[in-house]
Amino acid sequence: MATRAVYPGSFDPLTNGHLDLIERSLRIFDELIVAVVINPAKTALFTDAERMDMIREATRGLRHIDIIVFEGLLVDFVAKVGAGAIVRGIRAVSDFEYEFQMALMNRKLREDIETVFLMPHEAYSYISSRLIKEIAGYGATVTGLVPPGVEKRLTEKFRRR
Ligand code: PNS
Repeated sequence: MATRAVYPGSFDPLTNGHLDLIERSLRIFDELIVAVVINPAKTALFTDAERMDMIREATRGLRHIDIIVFEGLLVDFVAKVGAGAIVRGIRAVSDFEYEFQMALMNRKLREDIETVFLMPHEAYSYISSRLIKEIAGYGATVTGLVPPGVEKRLTEKFRRR
């Protein structure tokens, strides 16, 4: 039976660290669903459609991948799409506490869904969407930190502000 995993996140916006994790996940799982989560409590820079478009564009060369926007409880979505695992990235020890707590809560909600932690390449360990938005907002270059399509949209977004 094919193994299917969900890689959830805000992806506001997608970074090269996320992309690295997508590629690593596809080496482990037969199919990957990148789930762009709508979080009503968080104000996003990009709309969900923009975030999905950027992921679609950056993953055009990859097979066995689907990108879906969803709102609600993650484990319900994972079960609905017939996946058995949630993929999350751990860049540094500082990520661990939050991720560990979420993984155990998700397990409490649904025991049959496993969380799998992957490490992005160390070259991306300091990259976060939050810092990308911050430096791009000040006009600093994000070349090499995000896919070219994301860089273009960041430039456009901040030019219009
Ligand atoms: O990229 P992020 O913002 O760190 O991703 C966090 C995300 C989207 C994975 C998390 O907030 C989530 O799963 N949200 C969906 C709602 C949910 O299931 N919450 C309970 C998590 S234990």
